[in-house]
Amino acid sequence: MVAVSLNALSLGRIEPSDEEAVRQWYELRCSVVRADQPDDPPPCWISERGRFRHPSPGADKTGWLARDAGSVVGACVLRLPMLDNLHNAEGKILVAPQHRRRGIGRALLSHLRVAATRHGRSRLIGSEVDHPLDPAAPDPAGRFAAACGAMPALVETRRRLEVDSVDPAVLVRLDAQARAKSEGYSLVQWVGSTPQRWLDDVAYLTGRMSTDAPLDALQWDAEVYDAARMQADETSSLACGLHMVTTAAVHSTGQLVGLTQIVGLATSPWFAGQWNTIVAPEHRGHRLGMLIKVANLRHALAQRPELRVIDTCNADSNRHMIVINEVMGFRPHRRMAEWQLDL
Ligand SMILES: CC(C)(COP(=O)(O)OP(=O)(O)OC[C@H]1O[C@@H](n2cnc3c(N)ncnc32)[C@H](O)[C@@H]1OP(=O)(O)O)[C@@H](O)C(=O)NCCC(=O)NCCS
Repeated sequence: MVAVSLNALSLGRIEPSDEEAVRQWYELRCSVVRADQPDDPPPCWISERGRFRHPSPGADKTGWLARDAGSVVGACVLRLPMLDNLHNAEGKILVAPQHRRRGIGRALLSHLRVAATRHGRSRLIGSEVDHPLDPAAPDPAGRFAAACGAMPALVETRRRLEVDSVDPAVLVRLDAQARAKSEGYSLVQWVGSTPQRWLDDVAYLTGRMSTDAPLDALQWDAEVYDAARMQADETSSLACGLHMVTTAAVHSTGQLVGLTQIVGLATSPWFAGQWNTIVAPEHRGHRLGMLIKVANLRHALAQRPELRVIDTCNADSNRHMIVINEVMGFRPHRRMAEWQLDL
């Protein structure tokens, strides 16, 4: 295979208003998912386009397409946190399956390094990088990241719940056990954006996700969330067509003290991802985690009866969350890692 230097590739910025360039990004994403994660839903066009046109407010996002003789062979994205984590940058690199092992990945990484350094960032993080569960299976992303000198700072397992395999009697039992230990708390549920009266509490808990979930060796600072950022984040998610289902626990004092979310795409309604689950520290130990997760599973199924598969991702060191997920029936499906590279 011929080694390609960045000079031999033409690198064009993806302007969010350039429908053709965004479409080419989307098609590249589809080809990568087909090759590397065939059990996953195809990327959703509304979401992929939305992430360029309606980015979340906490970060600046720039993407580039790499072309060789006019055809798209790869792409990269740089995400710069703007409200916190000002020393960090997040990078994503995609190389079309038929153009791999030609040095394109390395060339795109050099580009991201230069761009991140120019913005004063001293660390580049590859977030939610996918790996196979079987350590003997091909792992292009892991081999690439290690060859480039990055460190797997946070190692996670993606677990999958096959909804049809859940025994309803198990959910009834888990719910009853949790209710017995959570006297003084009630549940609230919604679909879409957070009702105004809960915004401050939800913003507080969302910010705590960045400090309370284990980070292991990942150097990631506390994220600063308030009601305005929360609302802007949700506006962006809704513009991306996301279907967000939330259950929260409210203490008798009227404070919202725990929440969990299941989020689906506008397409592939059979699939959803588990997003944030958190209980405020002073309210832990009352089975609220189990209570809200079981209730939200039922809530999500009532909203989208086509739902068959839910994926959740946890740090391997997050023992408490993993126990709850395993008891509910989630089983290991893929590995994930946050790769960290000092610049
Ligand atoms: C990971 C990925 C970006 C690599 O792109 P690439 O263009 O094939 O990478 P390069 O050709 O620049 O490889 C650089 C080095 O990484 C290692 N490497 C890359 N792919 C590998 C593989 N499949 N097996 C073993 N080593 C591999 C090698 O050491 C390689 O150097 P060499 O070819 O001289 O031995 C590509 O496989 C991909 O797009 N995967 C899906 C998206 C993804 O997971 N991205 C992760 C980064 S955010």
